[in-house]
Amino acid sequence: MAEDVRFKVSIDGIPVDVAPGTTILNAARLIGGDVVPPAMCYYSKLEGSGGKCRTCLVKVSKGSEKDPRPMPKLVASCRTTVMDGMEVQSITSAEVLEARKGVVEMLLINHPLDCPICDQAGECHLQDLSYEHGLADTRYEFERRTFDKIDIGDKIQLHMTRCILCYRCVFVADQLTPQRVHGILGRGDAAEISTYIAKAVDNEFSGNMIDVCPVGALTDKTFRFKNRVWFTKPVEAHRDCPTCSGKVTLWYKGEDVLRVTARKDTYGEAEAFICNTCRFENKATSDWIIEGPRVVKRTSVISSNHYEQLNPPPVVKKNLTLQAANKEQFERIERLLP
Ligand code: SF4
Ligand code: SF4
Ligand code: FES
Repeated sequence: MAEDVRFKVSIDGIPVDVAPGTTILNAARLIGGDVVPPAMCYYSKLEGSGGKCRTCLVKVSKGSEKDPRPMPKLVASCRTTVMDGMEVQSITSAEVLEARKGVVEMLLINHPLDCPICDQAGECHLQDLSYEHGLADTRYEFERRTFDKIDIGDKIQLHMTRCILCYRCVFVADQLTPQRVHGILGRGDAAEISTYIAKAVDNEFSGNMIDVCPVGALTDKTFRFKNRVWFTKPVEAHRDCPTCSGKVTLWYKGEDVLRVTARKDTYGEAEAFICNTCRFENKATSDWIIEGPRVVKRTSVISSNHYEQLNPPPVVKKNLTLQAANKEQFERIERLLP
């Protein structure tokens, strides 16, 4: 197909022109705002992600200009590509909103009421979804499945009870690390994230699993229970890192950097993946060149902590000693990083 071909699509009556092959979800993201369906498993930087959680369901009320019949069922917008003339309903369809409620209810069937003590609270997509679409009660009468917490490596803790089996962390391991030692074992209600024979997930990009996890199932052990995210101040900073982009968000409490994460966009996705050295080993302001406050959405609980100016101490650049150990790994990562 010629490169300049564009498809005209409308989502909740808002027109948008997109390239053939674009998914409905990404077309909606071009429009932005409330029409964008929630996405708990799709992650634009992870190839093959999506199609697992069904939170992104939409109604295709007109298939295309050539075949205007509506699609008979709601479709996963992260997996359905647009056709020319397609008309989609997201928040304007009562059926879609009802289905989202059902999906949230399903995701919460086995989910614990942990928000008051969960590190993800305040930046958790499941928490947001529950507020938007959740029921106050549960109709579930059976005992919830529970798991013991597992340390996977010395920096990451897996709290499987909170996992929604979105597969994002598995894609991170597959696509960013040289060797995948964890995955989803079992099927149906026996499915769980697990390492093979209690192997540690330990490689230079494994920390990105924490950032892609949409819930509090994979947490940063160096930050666990240190603070609530809304009491911390996100600040953009970078360092000259030989392994990753070195562009991060530092989360301050007073003068202390409590955690380091990738910079997240409006959909909670990392703008660029970062290495474990940046994430776990550089928690002094002097390790970084401070750029300024990270702008977060005004609607986010994090932005309740107002601050406009920072006076960082003079920057002392760290002597970088990390060597590019695995050429093949870095080449693969380079292809994935923007
Ligand atoms: S993962 Fe999200 S919804 Fe679940 S307990 Fe943590 S903050 Fe609450
Ligand atoms: S641990 Fe987190 S990222 Fe991995 S499958 Fe579960 S919810 Fe998804
Ligand atoms: S985001 Fe589409 S199915 Fe999960």
